[in-house]
Amino acid sequence: MALEYEQLDDALERPRPSASPLDPFGLERPPDPCAVVIFGATGDLTHRKLVPALYDLSCHNVSPSRMAIVGFGRRALSETDFRAAMTEAIDSFYGDDSRIDQACGSCVREARYLQGDFDDLQAYQRLADLLAELDEQQGTAGNRIFYLATPPSLFPVIIEKLGAAGLARRGASGDVAEHAAPEGQGWTRIVVEKPFGHDLESAHQLNVVLREVFAENQVYRIDHYLAKETVQNILVFRFANGIFEPVWNRSFVDHVQITAAEALGVEHRGAYYEEAGALRDMIQNHLVQLFALTAMEPPVAFSADAVRDEKVKLLRAVRSIPPEHVDQFAVRGQYVDGTIDEQPVIAYRREDRVSPNSTTETYAAVKLLVDNWRWQGVPFYLRTGKRLPHQATEIAVQFKRPPHLLFRDAEKLGGQIPPNLLVIRIQPDEGLSLRFEAKTPGQVIGLQPVEMKFSYGSALRELPFSAYETLLLDCMTGDATLFNRDDQVDEAWRIVMPILDRWAATPGHGLGIYEAGTWGPEAADGLVARDGRRWRQP
Ligand code: BG6
Repeated sequence: MALEYEQLDDALERPRPSASPLDPFGLERPPDPCAVVIFGATGDLTHRKLVPALYDLSCHNVSPSRMAIVGFGRRALSETDFRAAMTEAIDSFYGDDSRIDQACGSCVREARYLQGDFDDLQAYQRLADLLAELDEQQGTAGNRIFYLATPPSLFPVIIEKLGAAGLARRGASGDVAEHAAPEGQGWTRIVVEKPFGHDLESAHQLNVVLREVFAENQVYRIDHYLAKETVQNILVFRFANGIFEPVWNRSFVDHVQITAAEALGVEHRGAYYEEAGALRDMIQNHLVQLFALTAMEPPVAFSADAVRDEKVKLLRAVRSIPPEHVDQFAVRGQYVDGTIDEQPVIAYRREDRVSPNSTTETYAAVKLLVDNWRWQGVPFYLRTGKRLPHQATEIAVQFKRPPHLLFRDAEKLGGQIPPNLLVIRIQPDEGLSLRFEAKTPGQVIGLQPVEMKFSYGSALRELPFSAYETLLLDCMTGDATLFNRDDQVDEAWRIVMPILDRWAATPGHGLGIYEAGTWGPEAADGLVARDGRRWRQP
């Protein structure tokens, strides 16, 4: 399976940063010096996300005072070629070819490249020598981040070889007493990209391999949604305000819709997507994370483990979907030829490296029920799809209607009163809105829904940091709050496994088709209509 990867950049209009004296992250001190070793250094992820993010960290003046980048890949490249590829990555991220800023470009100018096969122990020994040399020459102080940006099938062998070459230095990273770092040896952390496993069993296996070599507090499992500003804002919104939490429960909330709609198709990732499908690609990770942040209990502190404990507790409370009732809880669909923004769009089955008979879902919708006091009886509907009319990621909390309808005449005039709706817009147009009823001007009482809106773009400063910038910096400072713990990953797989098993056992059964540029298959409407509800159109 090829490494899943990101949609096309919307970055072409980004202002290119230049060296800034400010610390926009509000760090009390810069991160420790360190070496960042990227496995899969010539791949798509490195090119499109990691290199621009590392460069931006330097420009924002928050990277470690001494940071060495080491690319590890199979391709025979000279260091000059690797640096040129990094420069090209930064240029294409910003959509121009202006020169790399001198002040922040040293991470590129001094980058190193090591060619080797991922299963060749000697290559890892050469890596160990190179890292020791960098400690000496560039002052990286024995601190290392190993970033797995290869196809997931290579994760186990890399982890194992890192261990065999003595590079894992189990226990050297953290704050857990029994794994305290030997004095002066620096820390070692490993970043594992998504997808983390293909199902519960393989995720479990990967965790076993990791645990044999690294301590849990050395492991940083990425879900880049968690680093989006607006996603982090969910917790601030809920727990830094007094007025929302009292109504954030079954007494006031009717249901919640979590949507991640994409206008993009599968781009160049047909081979990966054929194996993954929408449920694995988006719901098992990104949407389940949005759901967890929306529904979890307040953590006792804003620390990595306190937040993650609450998320796991919530995920454990999600009712298991009975295998024989999967069709009542989940819907899948696939797009056929259609039109988006007046441009013709080809069917999924005609995409590059996609089978003409594919039954892979490009749309999935799932209903989750939570068996706890707060959410008993409140459905959470999660949906995602490729080639929907436009990009929109949002969480819509629909409140119950008023218990007594005072304005009967108004209702006759204006139809049924729409319930209050709170929408957290993750992207684009990041912000929040609250819909409520207002009186229309005039002699008779007429009602009209209006909105209170907050927009990040106009109310606060721009959102200048990419999710990868935030995640890399957190890893450098040893803050794992935005990364997944092993038990979270297991629980997220547990939730979707009955659906995956059922769909795998009945290929194509119930696969609804939808035209590209529409809001998904009809059956998705049925999923919510059975409960007397409708999807909103973001
Ligand atoms: C990735 C998926 O994890 O997230 C892609 O593999 C998807 O299929 C992408 O397009 C969406 O991320 P974002 O940040 O663009 O919403």
